[in-house]
Amino acid sequence: MIFKQLQTELNQRAAQGLMRSRRTLTAPQSSHIVVDGKPYLAFCSNDYLGLANHPQLIAALRQGAQQWGVGAGAAHLVSGHFEPHHLLEQRLAAFVGKPAALLFSTGYMANLGVVQALAGKSDTVFADKLNHASLNDAMLLSRAEVKRYRHGDMAQLARLFEQTKSGRKLVITDAVFSMDGDIALLRDMLALCEQYDAWLYVDDAHGFGVLGEQGRGSLSHFGIPSERIIYMATLGKAAGVSGAFVAAEQVVIDTLVNHANSYVYTTATPPALSSALLQSLQLIEQADNLRSRLHGLAARLRSGLADLPWSLMPSETAIQPLLIGDNQRALELSAALRERGIWVAAIRPPTVPQGMARLRITLSAAHTEADVDRLIGALHELAH
Ligand SMILES: Cc1ncc(COP(=O)(O)O)c(C=O)c1O
Repeated sequence: MIFKQLQTELNQRAAQGLMRSRRTLTAPQSSHIVVDGKPYLAFCSNDYLGLANHPQLIAALRQGAQQWGVGAGAAHLVSGHFEPHHLLEQRLAAFVGKPAALLFSTGYMANLGVVQALAGKSDTVFADKLNHASLNDAMLLSRAEVKRYRHGDMAQLARLFEQTKSGRKLVITDAVFSMDGDIALLRDMLALCEQYDAWLYVDDAHGFGVLGEQGRGSLSHFGIPSERIIYMATLGKAAGVSGAFVAAEQVVIDTLVNHANSYVYTTATPPALSSALLQSLQLIEQADNLRSRLHGLAARLRSGLADLPWSLMPSETAIQPLLIGDNQRALELSAALRERGIWVAAIRPPTVPQGMARLRITLSAAHTEADVDRLIGALHELAH
């Protein structure tokens, strides 16, 4: 009976063009991938600097596994906190200009942990309507009152602040919006947070390694080293490995160590991953050439796609979504590109608002100009 009900729900989803399924990669992540044995030129990973299969990271991971084994064996607070974790936290904090940092197993868990630890029943969380799903889940988990503002609408945020008289105030936002690619108005947001004595939690999953001086992320991009900003970045995107970290004042980090359930009640990541990430951080610092390459590729794509019937969304980052609208049409276009040997994911509701299905094109420094031109050519062909 219950299976039948589940199947009916799945069938309804499929009829709306919303069914999700997985494909299996049979070679490493790269600008050129192999899916179920077939090669494709791919524009859908978040491996923005092309580090996921970098020989120096592979060597560091191997060396880390030899020295530390493959599993942490325990939670950080029990006996799972190793020297590479500790060193990586220190380096990450210094890199993003904060006194302290804390590693989490994933960005999803970092968001759950931070919001749950810092906001409770008598507090208010303010959130952009286009925030990542993990931030949305985090605010529900916290049981704080939730006030959402229209995407980037600072006037509405100010009004919501005005209406909030008591409790702790925490603004949570993507720094680079994951499905849109635009950058949050962090400077204006910080000014409002100062005016209304709120904290600002910045999720820089798509900015770390890509934006700012030496890839230090969105706080460096805007030059806003404020104590009231709690910074989070993921380590499975530009950094090429896995995990996430939160960087903030020491008292915030100590609070997370004590109260963030997704930190306390889970096995630490394998220390060898931290060994690989220490190497990744060095590469990120030295990767100005890759970042300017990425920037150049985005500009090339934007000018190449300017005259299509579908429009690119306003984005200066490596995330360049092409707005299609209809779910089925987005799926058809994604399938037609696939027939031409090009892999671009169609993103549909509920990940994006109704009627705003899109091809989420992501660029990597590992792409060549010829790769980008091939995508431009294929999209023109499909448009006519
Ligand atoms: C904005 C944003 N935050 C958090 C996450 C979650 O990070 P992770 O994949 O490390 O769980 C993602 C994507 O995965 C994201 O795009």
